[in-house]
Amino acid sequence: MAYPLDPSPEQMREMGQSALEYAIDFLGRRGEAPASKPPGAAEEGRAHRQAPPEVGGEFAPLLELVDTIARNAPDNAGPGFLAFIPGGGLFASSLADLLSTTIDRFVNLWDEAPVAAQIENNVVRWLCDLFDYPAESRGVLTSGGSMANFSAIVAARKDRLPEDFLSGTMYVSEHVHASVTKAAMLAGFPVRNVRTVVADPSLRMDVEALRRAIAEDRARGLTPFAVVGTAGTTNTGSIDPLDALADVAAAEGLWFHADAAYGGFFQLTGRGRERFRGIERADSITLDPHKGMFLPYGTGALVVREGQKLRDAHHVGTGAYLQDLAADADIPNFSEYSAELSRDFRGLRVWFPLKLHGVSAFREALDEKLDLTEHLYGALKADPNLEVPWAPDLSIVPFRLREGDDAANRALLDRINASMRVFLSSTVLEGRFTLRACIVSHRTHRDRIDECIEIVGRAAAELTG
Ligand SMILES: Cc1ncc(COP(=O)(O)O)c(C=O)c1O
Repeated sequence: MAYPLDPSPEQMREMGQSALEYAIDFLGRRGEAPASKPPGAAEEGRAHRQAPPEVGGEFAPLLELVDTIARNAPDNAGPGFLAFIPGGGLFASSLADLLSTTIDRFVNLWDEAPVAAQIENNVVRWLCDLFDYPAESRGVLTSGGSMANFSAIVAARKDRLPEDFLSGTMYVSEHVHASVTKAAMLAGFPVRNVRTVVADPSLRMDVEALRRAIAEDRARGLTPFAVVGTAGTTNTGSIDPLDALADVAAAEGLWFHADAAYGGFFQLTGRGRERFRGIERADSITLDPHKGMFLPYGTGALVVREGQKLRDAHHVGTGAYLQDLAADADIPNFSEYSAELSRDFRGLRVWFPLKLHGVSAFREALDEKLDLTEHLYGALKADPNLEVPWAPDLSIVPFRLREGDDAANRALLDRINASMRVFLSSTVLEGRFTLRACIVSHRTHRDRIDECIEIVGRAAAELTG
């Protein structure tokens, strides 16, 4: 056997150093690496179908495998990635993951590793403070925004509905992220109990339509229990009228959940805080450090204004096998606030970058994203071949050909992505195929956005003739 389960110090050093060398080299090459997925990636994926070997092998081919994985996927965290919602992959978090998985301490019951749990709670507290939440607020770090939305809907259901809850209805905008509807389904609701409220021309939830829908449902004997506002929709970055939604929720006795998975960390900036006014009145807020804090995938967050309500929705008592451990206290037993027991130590992955770079580094990077978006919006709007109907609320610019059907717009997207320098994605708005550029990565700067403007302008001109 090449390597025992616990390798020798020499073997660990050799493997660790080559992995570190690879990581440094990879990060150095990142700026010039192709932004789009290379042709043949799916075939390459299938070529890797195999069962694990009975006998162990060498480490070097595993590093080659990592590079093959990277080369056969668009770089979600590279400077040219403007599709979907970009990731980040901070190096400080990679190191935190290496070290936290090495010490492998158990964070979810505080008495098992009090320092780990306190560090994770520092992160949660910081998030609560960011939204001016009171001292009794609590939260959890999740695997992502979807799980945060799930726990939020479960908390809302538990707090506002009886055990027999199927008359409960909740309200979302037509631009809500699918994970909210999925959360409702997982929380036991038929999807028909999720009411889709139309958006106004600026793509924000129409508050009058919401009021009407609630009244109609009450008249039918149903029980409206929650409204979800999005603080930065995935389609266009539009921000629902959060303050007005908080008013409706207060008047109607609804749980108000804000899905800020994409947009939430713009709260660190002056412009974001102004545009999110009212979010601090939400009963719960979903955030995604693996989006707006540029972390590697696997870190979302949910904060809940009245923390006890989150616990009521997730805690069923502790098994006798855990009777030796301390009760939930000022340092929380996070397992009592979420669906998970054993899990990774997410807090260190957030804490390392916060301590190494400081909060100001994130504020500045996000402010830069807002500036870049305004620059991109202005340039695309000035292009006579393009229609750019919506001024950005945050960091997404939707656009399409002024003259051209869906097929022509698909061709535009393909042409842009064939540049391999920027990678964009599309959606459907007003029933029409629409391209969108989303600027989130901390690695995206003015030079790449200028290149993007040039690539889009050239492709649109070629297609328009
Ligand atoms: C607004 C919004 N909510 C929820 C999610 C789901 O988050 P995750 O992919 O981390 O599960 C996303 C993902 O893009 C999103 O943009």
